[in-house]
Amino acid sequence: PVPVIIDCDTGIDDALALLLAVRHPGLDLRAVTCVAGNTDVEGVVRNTLTVLERAGAPDVPVARGAERPLIEAVRTARHVHGHDGMGDLGLPAPSRRPVDVDAVTLLRREILASPRPVTLIPTAPATNIALLLRTHPEVTGNIERIVFMGGAVATGNATPVAEFNVWHDPEAAAILLSAGVPITMYGLDVFQRVIVPGPDVRRLRASDEPGTRLAGELLAHRGPATDERDPGGGLGDAGAVCAVIDPAGLTTHRLPVEVCLAPGPARGQTLVDRRARVGEAELHGDTREQPLIDVGLDVDVPRYVDLYLSAVEHKGAY
Ligand code: BDR
Ligand code: CA
Repeated sequence: PVPVIIDCDTGIDDALALLLAVRHPGLDLRAVTCVAGNTDVEGVVRNTLTVLERAGAPDVPVARGAERPLIEAVRTARHVHGHDGMGDLGLPAPSRRPVDVDAVTLLRREILASPRPVTLIPTAPATNIALLLRTHPEVTGNIERIVFMGGAVATGNATPVAEFNVWHDPEAAAILLSAGVPITMYGLDVFQRVIVPGPDVRRLRASDEPGTRLAGELLAHRGPATDERDPGGGLGDAGAVCAVIDPAGLTTHRLPVEVCLAPGPARGQTLVDRRARVGEAELHGDTREQPLIDVGLDVDVPRYVDLYLSAVEHKGAY
C-alpha cells in the first residue's frame, strides 16, 4: 500500500476522505494532522478522532496543528459544515486524545520514518504544510508527491475567483506550491463534479455498519442535489484521495500556477497559466517562473464514485 498522511480540517467532506483512506487496501494511512479551517482546530481534532473511531481505525495517530493561518485571521466555514464542522449530526465525543506532539512534529517524524516515500494529501488550508516545509525542509527527500484539494482554474467559492482552502491561507498555499516535489492540484473544477447519486446515498444511510452509515449521513448533508426529489452528495475532499488511489481517473495538465497574494479581489486566486508554454507567454515577454503543477482539469465521475462506494461498503471489488 501507498503510505499517506492526510492534513485536514474535518469538515464533512474531510470526514469522507478519512473514511476512504482508512478503508481502501491500496493506502496505508500513517497519520492525520489537523488545522483550523472549516471550524476551529479544537473542533477539527475532535471530529477527526470521532471519524477514525467510527471508521474502525482508532490507532492512527492524530495531531493538533495551527490554530490560525500564517497571516490572515481565522475564518471558519460553519455556514457550510455546521457549528461543529460536521453537519451537527450529534456525533459522540471521541474516547481518546490527540498525540502529545504538534502536527509539524508528527508530520516530520512520520515522513522521515517511512520506509517508502510518503504521499501527502492536504484537504485544508495549507498552514501546517507550509510550517513543515519551512521548519524541516529535509522532509521533501521522503515525499513522493503532494495531492492537495485547493484552488480553482475557473470559478472560486469563497470569492468569485478564490477557493476556500487557498483563500483561507494564501501565503501557505504559495509555499506548498513551491515545495519542489511533484504536486497534483485537485481543485474546484473537478472537486464539484464528483457526486454520489441519491439511491447510493440512501443505501449507505440504511447500512447497519457504523462507518458506512456515517458516509451516507455525511453525503446526505452535502448536495448539491442531482435530483430535487432524491438528492445525491458530493465526495468533495474524498476525490483527492481517489486521485492518489487511481490517478488515471483524473486528467491533469502540467501548468504554471501562481497564488495571488496582493490585497484586493483576486487575493487567494490560483492563477493557472493555460497558455502554451513556449508560445504566447514568451511572445509577450512574460518571463516569470512559476512552479509547474499537475492541475486536474477533468475527472471520470462514475469511476471515482464506484471506487468510493466499493471501499466504504467493503465490497472488496478492487
Ligand atoms: C474546501 O473547503 C472546505 O470547506 C472543504 O472541506 C474543502 O476542503 C472546498 O473549497
Ligand atoms: Ca477540507
